[in-house]
Amino acid sequence: MMDKQVNKNVELHKRRERAVPRAPYNISQVYVDKARGAKVQDVEGKEYIDFAGGIGIQNIGHNHPKVVAAIKEQVDQFIHPCFHVAPYESYITLAERLNALTPGDFAKKTILLNSGAEAVENAIKIARKFTGKSGVISFDRAYHGRTLLTMSLTSKVKPYKHGFGPFANNTYKLPYPYYYRKDSFLSNEEYDDRLVEQFNHFLMLEASPDEIGAIIMEPVQGEGGFIVPSKRFVQGIKRVCEENNILFIADEIQTGFCRTGKLFAMENFDIAPDLTTLSKSIAGGMPLSAVTGRADVMDAAEIGQLGGTFGGSPVACAAGNAVLDVIKEEHLVDKSRVLGEKMMKLLQEMKERHDVIGDVRGLGSMCAIEIIEAEDFKQPNPGLTTTILQACWDKGLMTLKAGTYGNVLRFLPPVVIADEDLERGLAIVDEAITENK
Ligand SMILES: Cc1ncc(COP(=O)(O)O)c(C=O)c1O
Repeated sequence: MMDKQVNKNVELHKRRERAVPRAPYNISQVYVDKARGAKVQDVEGKEYIDFAGGIGIQNIGHNHPKVVAAIKEQVDQFIHPCFHVAPYESYITLAERLNALTPGDFAKKTILLNSGAEAVENAIKIARKFTGKSGVISFDRAYHGRTLLTMSLTSKVKPYKHGFGPFANNTYKLPYPYYYRKDSFLSNEEYDDRLVEQFNHFLMLEASPDEIGAIIMEPVQGEGGFIVPSKRFVQGIKRVCEENNILFIADEIQTGFCRTGKLFAMENFDIAPDLTTLSKSIAGGMPLSAVTGRADVMDAAEIGQLGGTFGGSPVACAAGNAVLDVIKEEHLVDKSRVLGEKMMKLLQEMKERHDVIGDVRGLGSMCAIEIIEAEDFKQPNPGLTTTILQACWDKGLMTLKAGTYGNVLRFLPPVVIADEDLERGLAIVDEAITENK
């Protein structure tokens, strides 16, 4: 504490504003000094409970000692000879492990890359090459990244797409269920069936099956507001894909690695995707992503057609292999399920106390609440959401917003969070709502 400067955050933020363009958003002006497990300390010595996990990167907790040790050991051996120049074992090992662990009892292969968007770009390239069909379908409220192709698949104009067109050709959107906001005269099953039927209509009215190579789906929508589809819907979409030779790509970038009470979220829906994109919590915070999928599909691209200078760097692979060890040794899949049950229970109780909480939803430990105008049922209240969010940060809780209307508070605490920190974090949310509603 002694050496921390009182106004260090403000000073750093002034420097940031001078040196860095405004476009990369900062949800806070809290500059990090140190992070461990589910706790983060800023440069002024203030401690935060972390419900943001770097947007879902820290499922196993900040700076897990095994990950840190693996990174250090790798750095001492070699940093980066480049996989395309002189390959190394840790890349192969990680690929083998992801092939074995992702859903699907068939031969698989994995390519490693750097970012989530890069994984999605590569999955689409691979799918196009395999099928010979360029059309790609994503969903309303989807988020797949910020590069040209992934931004084209992303479904929120402001801020992600505004002014950045023209977008990639042959990309289309289908509706994704949103049970909280569906027409009330439909049962959930009728609603699911209608949405699946729209896929069939799309293939008659918009683009024929011989033009559509792939559909890409988040098993739970992340940026879109933590919206959980039903098994009926996901399986219905997969069935139409199979009937029309369309590849099913699961974007598990935010849902993967124990977030949803399973290692991968598609396990909740009993779906084995043709291809899966992975990133975020894959390597404890090192930049790493992957496309894992059917070996025959993955081998469609020819030698030299995929890759990149830093993809699957040795340091990131060392971290990725250590993350998989930790998940197994510490039973983090089970922990995620238990954590999710606890969060959902406490959030449901919170909803009883606050009529501005319109919906509580989640899958495993990927949980969120939707903030509405109390007097006008279901009217989104983004202003109050921002106020609550700010109050949470002021009280020492890092958390995030999401959703089309900016009225969803989403919670992505490390799965290893201590009970007392989880309870204190949720108590902070409760206080922030009480004081501001
Ligand atoms: C589902 C999903 N896909 C893709 C991405 C893009 O990942 P990145 O920011 O690493 O490019 C994200 C990032 O939030 C995501 O949540």
